[in-house]
Amino acid sequence: MYLAGLGKSPLPFDMFALAGDAELARRQDKLTSIYHRGQALVWDGQAVLAELLAKHGGIRLEPAQRNAIGQIMQVLMWGELAAWKIASQLADTFVPLAPKLAATSQAHDEARHFYVLHDYLQALPFTPQPLNRQTRLLLDGVLLTDNPLHKVMGMQLMIEALALTIFQAIRESQAEPVLCELLRYFEKDEARHVGLGVQYLPTQMKGLSRWQERRMIAFQVQLLAAALLELKALEPHMRLLGIDPRTVYLLGTAKQALVFEMLWKEQGTTDQEEESLASRLLTATGELLFPEPQPGQSAVRRYYRAATLALQTLRRGMPENVPASSIDPESEAQLPSAAVWRS
Ligand SMILES: [Fe+2]
Ligand SMILES: [Fe+2]
Repeated sequence: MYLAGLGKSPLPFDMFALAGDAELARRQDKLTSIYHRGQALVWDGQAVLAELLAKHGGIRLEPAQRNAIGQIMQVLMWGELAAWKIASQLADTFVPLAPKLAATSQAHDEARHFYVLHDYLQALPFTPQPLNRQTRLLLDGVLLTDNPLHKVMGMQLMIEALALTIFQAIRESQAEPVLCELLRYFEKDEARHVGLGVQYLPTQMKGLSRWQERRMIAFQVQLLAAALLELKALEPHMRLLGIDPRTVYLLGTAKQALVFEMLWKEQGTTDQEEESLASRLLTATGELLFPEPQPGQSAVRRYYRAATLALQTLRRGMPENVPASSIDPESEAQLPSAAVWRS
């Protein structure tokens, strides 16, 4: 049929349809500017890495530290490949020009991130291994979904926030000077990618049915659980570099909260009840996986306390089931999730 020009063309000839309202037009401007800012701020990955290696006299590490950095950075390297693929999928799927430009710009950034991390691992030297199951659960979930809303929620809001968290933790640990300086370049790019999600999602989420909203929240919970398990798998390597995994978990929760606050602000309306459930599930799981250290307390006692906190967190928001005496206000104050999302 395509020979006769009668079939449906893969070219979307209606892509220049005018923005329906001023709000949408404003978002489209912001999405377009992600592409142009990306172009203006593009950096040469090969030149930057070479300069940093020369500046710091190469990478000088003990074998154990070298292995720990390699183990963490290989996960991030595969994550960059996943981000490159996901951004390319979105660039192809999106029809309107503005988000298509933003996703194309992101794909270009992620390609640079991937090859720079690959080159860094080569300079370390460290040979990347296949990903662990926990991380595959997170990345494959977003790669394989054919729902563009789930893809954007998972990639631009959740995986980006997690990557930013780990980048910041490694940079602040001062574990290795070349990497610490390199990651600053990554963080600036990733922050733009979060902007794609924040600007694209509000308009698209307006038309969701109750059932679609619940599916979206179930998808978020699945990804958050996978992200926490990934962090848990990296725990021994982080400890070796002097990075406290609980601090990373708390930082990640705070970053996720910030990202979702930005989204809710753009969107204007939300469903408090459902999101606070997702938020409570995240915090309850996090408290179990990364319990707060208590000096002089046995491991059993510490995990019992973490389990109690997790249960209290899950029950919060359902006061009819929670006897007032069972909530210790002091321990509540230590939980990060009061601020998570908007619960
Ligand atoms: Fe990236
Ligand atoms: Fe990114």
